[in-house]
Amino acid sequence: MSYYKIANLEQYFKHYHKSVREPRKFWGKIAEENFTWYQMWEKVVEFNMAEADIKWFTGAKVNIVKNCIDRHLARRGNKTAIIFEPNNPEEEAQHITYTQLHERVCKMANVLREQGVQKGDRVCIYLPMIPELAVAVLACARIGAIHSVVFAGFSASAVATRINDCDCKMVITSDGGFRGNKTIDLKGIIDEALTHCPGVHKVLVAKRTNEQVNMVYGRDMWLQPLLDEASDNNVAEIMDAEDPLFILYTSGSTGKPKGMLHTTAGYMVYTAYTFKNVFNYEENDVYWCTADIGWITGHSYILYGPLLNGATTVIFEGVPSYPDFSRFWEVIEKHQVTQFYTAPTAIRSLAKESIDYVQGFPLKSLKVIGSVGEPINEEAWNWYNDHVGGKRCPVVDTWWQTETGGIMISPVPFVTPTKPTYATLPLPGIQPVLMDEKRNEIEENQVVGSLCIKFPWPSIARTIWGDHQRYKETYFSTFPGKYFTGDGALRDEVGYYRITGRVDDVIIVSGHNLGTAPIEDAINEHQAVAESAIVGFPHDIKGNALYGYIILKEHGETRNQENLRGEINKLISDQIGPIAKLDKIQFVSGLPKTRSGKIMRRILRKIAEGDYSNFGDTTTLLNPEIVEEIKAGKIE
Ligand code: PRX
Repeated sequence: MSYYKIANLEQYFKHYHKSVREPRKFWGKIAEENFTWYQMWEKVVEFNMAEADIKWFTGAKVNIVKNCIDRHLARRGNKTAIIFEPNNPEEEAQHITYTQLHERVCKMANVLREQGVQKGDRVCIYLPMIPELAVAVLACARIGAIHSVVFAGFSASAVATRINDCDCKMVITSDGGFRGNKTIDLKGIIDEALTHCPGVHKVLVAKRTNEQVNMVYGRDMWLQPLLDEASDNNVAEIMDAEDPLFILYTSGSTGKPKGMLHTTAGYMVYTAYTFKNVFNYEENDVYWCTADIGWITGHSYILYGPLLNGATTVIFEGVPSYPDFSRFWEVIEKHQVTQFYTAPTAIRSLAKESIDYVQGFPLKSLKVIGSVGEPINEEAWNWYNDHVGGKRCPVVDTWWQTETGGIMISPVPFVTPTKPTYATLPLPGIQPVLMDEKRNEIEENQVVGSLCIKFPWPSIARTIWGDHQRYKETYFSTFPGKYFTGDGALRDEVGYYRITGRVDDVIIVSGHNLGTAPIEDAINEHQAVAESAIVGFPHDIKGNALYGYIILKEHGETRNQENLRGEINKLISDQIGPIAKLDKIQFVSGLPKTRSGKIMRRILRKIAEGDYSNFGDTTTLLNPEIVEEIKAGKIE
């Protein structure tokens, strides 16, 4: 019996129980039957949760790119691996076959090696959503270099922090990128970032916009001439199961971004398995995930998961609103997309436009539609189900994280009955638990608690680059012996999970994780600012938006407040990126603090939400009078 595909609900429960009772047999069998290995493992899993030490398939030798591309060549050489849909619909889409992808990745891998990149080196990739991004990622993995993709919307200072944190020696970027009717000067951003990155000696530049850029002699090289010269014959590096595959940064509630490190074999097995089941993937499907490869969703479910299954995956360069709000639906029709995977924020922004944008499109090719990144509210779920899925496509609300590497809780389409706003049941291998305030496991249903996972799964991040202690403290110490997700969840009467949101100081804005501390640090650099506190408040489209309470220094109080607001947002935009800008800024004379000096964010959150009832216990406040002042000055 194979465990790779879940055919019905009875089988789901059977596989699930097997995965809990005999995880080694369950994952061992999946790994053995569905991938090619240079050498098999000695142990399926070894772990010590207290030390946050987890290893899968130890002793095995493998190359993930051989599994993504080479092994498909005999049977699927002429099949399209990647459909590239450009920003401008007038520009022709590209269809890249598995054979062509193989050739391009091999050439790129040879270029990287010729430029001195070796196994274990870190390479920063800062590219728009063009085929070169996929090729660069896969070429790194092929030669065992650790890719660190930085979303091409991050500012120079944010890129520099990420480059320096993991000591990248090379950057791969482009002259620029197109997004809707904007052109973004990516090379200019990299030039600025690199003034702070002494470790980077080489920059490879792909051409996309053909804008004039500055090329630094001895450091910068155009990519295409190097590729033209390169051989397409490349021997992939033989990797250990636990060799690092990539680093991807995610915001923490405090301090600098966390470089989550994912390793090779477990990540490969789990992303392939979850892609197959969560999207009900079949051989001739055309799968489209609208995320950016700069986020984990793009890593696992635009590139690795689909390619491991020999699928056709769409890379979309543009935005849902360009040239108009029917772009998504046009692309689905154009390429006859069968699985569509997007974020609640995109659904909400399209749902608020005229229904005509979607109604003209039959969307009959669709089979499964998915959602990821933040809780999906019932209205958005229903709109998606009715107007995109035509009430016939299961909606898979997939809960997972950068840290988890792959989808954890989700319906299996045509198997698990869906329920609006519920991610439903854990996938096989995933053992969620809810914890109460006393840190005990809650056994019963119809309760809320902190969501933890009590047994390791193959694609869990292994550490935070350069800071294992932080990894241990963040994820394994709040509830000893368990992985703590940072999310709260509700479990209903049948055991379905609904994710209620973050329980820490991370705020999810338009599906992007933002830590409050880094934003506050950016604001506090403004010379007129004394102190600040950021909270989230509900927003119709973004899910959450940011509300800033700011105390000015004395000389700042005489300044024009509108100008100050602009300067503060500019500072945030420069230091982190435009996604972290504040929607509302209120200048205050103080912040509610406990006697130990801790800001009571709970109160600030309530005021930002406009909920003045029940502030809870304010007796421990040092300055209770400030609450009235803040309420009176609330920005509507
Ligand atoms: O709070 C959860 C929310 O997004 C967080 C993870 O963000 P990130 O690491 O950027 O990864 C996003 C893509 C996997 C989670 O801790 N989240 C993600 N998916 C859902 C969700 N919240 C509710 N429902 C979801 N389906």
